[in-house]
Amino acid sequence: MNIPFLDWASHHRIFEKQWLKDAQEIYRSGIFLKGAYGAQFENHFCRYCESEEVSSLSAIGTGNGLDALYLSLRALDLPQGSEVIIPGNTYIATALAVIHAGLTPVLAPPSATDYNLDPAELDSCFSENTVAVLPVHLCGRVCDMDLINSWAKQKKIVVIEDAAHAHGAIYKGKKAGSFGDAAGFSFYPGKNLGALGDAGAVVTPSTTTAQKVRSMQDYGSLQKYEHEDIGINSRMDELQAAFLSHKLAHLDSQLEHRRHLAQVLIDELPDELVLPPPDDNDYQSAWHLFVIRHPQRERLSAYLASKGIQCMIHYPRSIDQHNALKTLKLAPCTVSRRLAGEILSLPIGPHVNQGKLEYIIKQVRAFFGR
Ligand SMILES: Cc1ncc(COP(=O)(O)O)c(C=O)c1O
Repeated sequence: MNIPFLDWASHHRIFEKQWLKDAQEIYRSGIFLKGAYGAQFENHFCRYCESEEVSSLSAIGTGNGLDALYLSLRALDLPQGSEVIIPGNTYIATALAVIHAGLTPVLAPPSATDYNLDPAELDSCFSENTVAVLPVHLCGRVCDMDLINSWAKQKKIVVIEDAAHAHGAIYKGKKAGSFGDAAGFSFYPGKNLGALGDAGAVVTPSTTTAQKVRSMQDYGSLQKYEHEDIGINSRMDELQAAFLSHKLAHLDSQLEHRRHLAQVLIDELPDELVLPPPDDNDYQSAWHLFVIRHPQRERLSAYLASKGIQCMIHYPRSIDQHNALKTLKLAPCTVSRRLAGEILSLPIGPHVNQGKLEYIIKQVRAFFGR
């Protein structure tokens, strides 16, 4: 059996007819940016991120997730050169957004249990220059936002969520993207809510922040040829917005499938592995990734590849290990470095049916001689 890590082509077949119809309409209309499809997606997506406790969010479509984080930081008007706490074990985009915004990333060690920012470590990363904390809801599990938010409030700093992995993830009844002063989402094709190219969004409870992002993403302008900010060009195009609107309508059923797969994997995989924590009353992960851990990760990965199961590593380097960031002289994040050497992401998603799920479990068990 062959199980690729991702197989969006087969999943996308259900959207094909409708999207091609929309694409033709967009093609004929000549409106490719800032049109009705973008406005509709923004409206649907911010409603989607709301809950009983959090209403009145705004969403602004952007060109990608990196820009969504960058624009969030810029819109919050943080003093240049000040520090932003990020986890050491994230995708480089989190750090790059901070750097591009003229700020300095400070790496916090993640929890070795759920790989998210560990609230107990935040005090040791705080300095008089800290202005923000940027939790990443890694693998689709929301960070412990009650603790992070109350700590940030006490320190009088802002909170920006990196929700690139976490569309639809729930923590204590609230959705990812609704906890901070602003949140950045990515709709990179491989994400749970993936576009047909690059796209992203900022979600924020503040209409002032939303206006600022809207200006910053469009050359610093809210009115044609009137430029109030040093902005960039980062807008979601109509073709992506049309596709994402269709896909969003199917996201919850897709998440249900992912949650089922994750629970079976947790129940059935052998005890030799470190497994991610299961969902419970407080946490319902989006299960963007299903990450297992073992000291013999390379051998296990090679064995599964030989059985047709494609795995990946998210992420193989701690942020402080990237050559690109050498000049920042980031303190080595030993926990992230150790985890990076042991983690392995198994295939999970709409393409993993019951037969494939059983095959993955069988082959992992076989590796351990079960
Ligand atoms: C955790 C995290 N943050 C930010 C991003 C950036 O998103 P994009 O690729 O849409 O710029 C990604 C993308 O992979 C990501 O995984």
